[in-house]
Amino acid sequence: MDGTRKPWGGRFARPTDRVVEAYTASIDVDRRLAREDILGSIAHARMLGRQGIIPAEDAARIVTGLERLLDEVERGEFPLDPALEDIHMNVEARLAALIGPEVAGRLHTARSRNDQVALDARLWTLRAIDEMVDAIDRLQAVLLDLAERHAEDILPGYTHLQRAQPVTLGHHLMAYVEMLERDVGRFTDCARRTASSPLGSGALAGAPYPLDREGVARELGLAGVTENSLDAVSDRDFVVEFQAAAAICMMHLSRLAEEIVLWSTTEFGFITLDDAFATGSSLMPQKKNPDVAELARGRTGRIYGNLIAILTTLKALPLSYNRDLQEDKPGLFDTFDTLMSTLDIMARMLPTVHFHTERMRAAAGAGYALATDVADYLVQKGLPFREAHHIVGALVAYAAKQGRGLHELTLAEYQRFSPLFEDDVHAISAESAVCARDVPGGTAPHRVREAVARARARLQERVGTTPTGSARDPV
Ligand code: ARG
Repeated sequence: MDGTRKPWGGRFARPTDRVVEAYTASIDVDRRLAREDILGSIAHARMLGRQGIIPAEDAARIVTGLERLLDEVERGEFPLDPALEDIHMNVEARLAALIGPEVAGRLHTARSRNDQVALDARLWTLRAIDEMVDAIDRLQAVLLDLAERHAEDILPGYTHLQRAQPVTLGHHLMAYVEMLERDVGRFTDCARRTASSPLGSGALAGAPYPLDREGVARELGLAGVTENSLDAVSDRDFVVEFQAAAAICMMHLSRLAEEIVLWSTTEFGFITLDDAFATGSSLMPQKKNPDVAELARGRTGRIYGNLIAILTTLKALPLSYNRDLQEDKPGLFDTFDTLMSTLDIMARMLPTVHFHTERMRAAAGAGYALATDVADYLVQKGLPFREAHHIVGALVAYAAKQGRGLHELTLAEYQRFSPLFEDDVHAISAESAVCARDVPGGTAPHRVREAVARARARLQERVGTTPTGSARDPV
């Protein structure tokens, strides 16, 4: 490429080496900022015109030209020139082709690519958060429907992956709704700090023009402007926060994925995956594999990697802008794509899962999952809990030695361990155990239904709003 095509061509006698051009170019990645770059430029150009920094007619022509570009981008018809280093150069070049280089050349007045790219990345991240929260909400809605349907179905609850106490399937599913709700909170919190305009920070020190920074921010739907120009051009905390929120959210999905993998084994046999969401083996004809869940679990590593990558890029960077910062975007886009597709496929897969509720119920009643309830029975008869615990422990050891469940013991056998046992000890069941846990946050079916209703209301309130509370589309 001819070095004189570059806006800084005046300083250079020779064009950049091709290898350097290829190494430093970012257009393959930052092309995804096209929309934000144009929106930011429109707001900037309007402000330059309003403030009399450039002639009003020129500002108007720039804005009209940029609006055409926006249209091209939205229709997928924006012609990208891969020979131009990045999206900012591409937009500027396309604008020059449309309205002439003289007028187009005024757009970059009082602006550097350093504050420009910081703005673009913030606008993109805000839109990403908006879409992410919507995707989380859709998955929550799916989980809520399932939780309501299975509010009374019982399965063993586990600690240490050992059967512990019976819980309702609805309660189990609602645990994931709570995790996802905290994820929404983290993304929303990140959005609050992202919604600041760095434009006007210039290359690093500000700009020697009477800018209306607040007006630009308002027009872009941002809450305010950044305070310090050096910080503003080199700050990528919002990317770190986005990556961190995404890593936690993906970790939650990975836990859900792991349970889907476990539950679909012959050993558990709690669920069967729909044919459309499982894959076979090229060798073993009997196999039906939970590949979607496995890949969701596996891709969590990629997202953790992206978080560590941006933290490492920022570590020890001196103020202010450094080209290292260009490395913020590949991971940002990759994390967004990975998490979005995982949220989406989970929301599609879960409604197709067949839950073997009878097998779950049988597993919850078998073994010694009701031992705590037998201890609580003795507590109700007046024993201190520690003593009751000891007695039932001995009872379990006695039954286990004979390979029998607690419900298979006779009253006489019970009474050998404590005279407080009466006939009604046989009324203890998985059903009575879950119904007894009737506290806020407990597994009793009516508590689960209440939790579902509260979560639904929460979700309803959020629909149609953005994390920053602005209108859905910034401009
Ligand atoms: N591609 C660059 C980035 O993403 C844009 C800013 C370039 N600024 C510069 N001074 N070279 O960071």
